[in-house]
Amino acid sequence: MTTPTPSPLTAAAPEPRTAPHRPAIADGISEVVGGTPLVRLAHLFPDSGIEIFAKLESVNPGGSTKDRPALAMVRAGLASGRLAAGGMVVESSSGNLGVALARVCTAHEVRFVCVVDARTNPTTVATIRALGGEIEMVSEPDPATGDLLTARLHRVRQLLEENPGAVNLHQYGNPANPGAHSAGTMPEIARALDHRLDVLMAAVSTTGTLAGCTAYLRETGMGTRTVAVDSVGSVLFGGHGAPRPLPGFGAGVITEISRTVVPDQVVRVDGPEAVAGARLLARREGILAGASTGAIVHALGRLVGELEPGSRLAFIVHDGGIPYLDTVYDDDWVRRVLGTDADALAAIMADLQRSGRRG
Ligand SMILES: Cc1ncc(COP(=O)(O)O)c(C=O)c1O
Repeated sequence: MTTPTPSPLTAAAPEPRTAPHRPAIADGISEVVGGTPLVRLAHLFPDSGIEIFAKLESVNPGGSTKDRPALAMVRAGLASGRLAAGGMVVESSSGNLGVALARVCTAHEVRFVCVVDARTNPTTVATIRALGGEIEMVSEPDPATGDLLTARLHRVRQLLEENPGAVNLHQYGNPANPGAHSAGTMPEIARALDHRLDVLMAAVSTTGTLAGCTAYLRETGMGTRTVAVDSVGSVLFGGHGAPRPLPGFGAGVITEISRTVVPDQVVRVDGPEAVAGARLLARREGILAGASTGAIVHALGRLVGELEPGSRLAFIVHDGGIPYLDTVYDDDWVRRVLGTDADALAAIMADLQRSGRRG
């Protein structure tokens, strides 16, 4: 028997590398949530002496980590009977959860009202509307605390009172939020790395990502050190409250989920540092990410000197950078809102690259 000669076109074609549980044809958009790529980053800190991997949650259908908890919370609500077709969900979101919920609710014929605040990106608001969600804009901070998140939560309570039967999925305390990450995000990273991982870094807001990943790491005894990257001005993990100019990063109230998780380390990052990290990731690796991922990159640069040579570190790319082109990636916005001019930003980036070198 003769072996057929491979065609020159197919002979050189590499095997397709699809995510293990992604079917060739998905049965609806929700089926392609998760199974995101893990990417080795050789150029971000090339002289760090450590292995760095990025989990691209930005390639989820809604463009962020929040696709997983949104789907898990709606599925749990439907399974428990709390939620049904024709019902209504009211949620506070700085954007990404809103985008994810707008899609999931539309798919299940549930009305969705999203409470956002003045810092929410206009592109995100337009996306939620395009997907069938309704927007409630809160423009004034809570008078007692001065915090916009507190004001948003107050508006959610009002809407629930005005609409009997409406459901709040309560992402700050819903076990399905961390559950989505203990069942999906972290096992995917662990499997890709043969369960050998020294450090995991995640940015925090509700702390669902960190709590879910930590639960999986502790259950499997992987011995991975967890690093929570929080915003300066966030009250999580003993932080002192202050205004935070970057939405979706940090929190103005201590979330219920955060009380269930103890990170091994907390690193706090300010606005200009997060911007510098995001821009470095874009230029060095071609990964355009949002502000919280930029904050992780800055925290990572600072951490390099503390890590054993050869350590394996993975971090979450929480969302993509397109909605941030007018903010994080815009010099005028950075100068106006963060008070940092182009020279000062260049100096922060140079410092970051220096701290990311070993020795
Ligand atoms: C942009 C961004 N940063 C950080 C996070 C982490 O947030 P949480 O602590 O709520 O999981 C998320 C969550 O999806 C996010 O969308």
